[in-house]
Amino acid sequence: MGFSEKQEELVRESWEMMKEDIPALSLHFFTQILEIAPAAKGLFSFLKDTDEIPQNNPKLKAHAVKVFKMTCESAIQLREKGEVVVNDSTLKYLGFVHLQKGVVGPHFEVVKEGLLRTVEKGVGEKWSEEMKGAWSEAYDQLAAAIQAEMNKLE
Ligand code: HEM
Repeated sequence: MGFSEKQEELVRESWEMMKEDIPALSLHFFTQILEIAPAAKGLFSFLKDTDEIPQNNPKLKAHAVKVFKMTCESAIQLREKGEVVVNDSTLKYLGFVHLQKGVVGPHFEVVKEGLLRTVEKGVGEKWSEEMKGAWSEAYDQLAAAIQAEMNKLE
């Protein structure tokens, strides 16, 4: 099943809304991740030595924004090309970084759930099953591309 214009629009429109409040969004995203998988704390340089999630950490914000932005780009590519095409060197780099940090398959599910909960909070009344489905598919395809690269390096 292809990715429709409507699905792309749902992802794009929600990301536009969320972009207005990156600090709160980033904090919520990591709060969700750690609620689902407390052990994931140890993976992140900016979390492992603190008891609380830092409020204004540039690295934390950067990871949150990157995941959301790249998922949004995936949605656009899925609609335009039918597949996720990440620049080859970017993908190699992402595969390398995540492998080196000890990220494994199930972590991608945790981050997905955190992402969906954050979109739900971010868009409020606009949240719908259709929007959830669109973000899920775009994220899954991006995560699969990163994991395929990680597998190649292993
Ligand atoms: C680092 C993207 C999923 C854990 C990074 C970096 C990017 C990125 C761009 C920065 C690399 C650098 O320049 O240092 C993504 C995307 C994801 C994803 C697009 C999913 C689609 C995950 C998952 C985990 C994870 C599932 C594990 C729960 C990390 C860690 C770092 C990192 C631990 C190093 C950050 C640090 O400690 O400073 N990721 N990531 N990422 N990512 Fe991800």
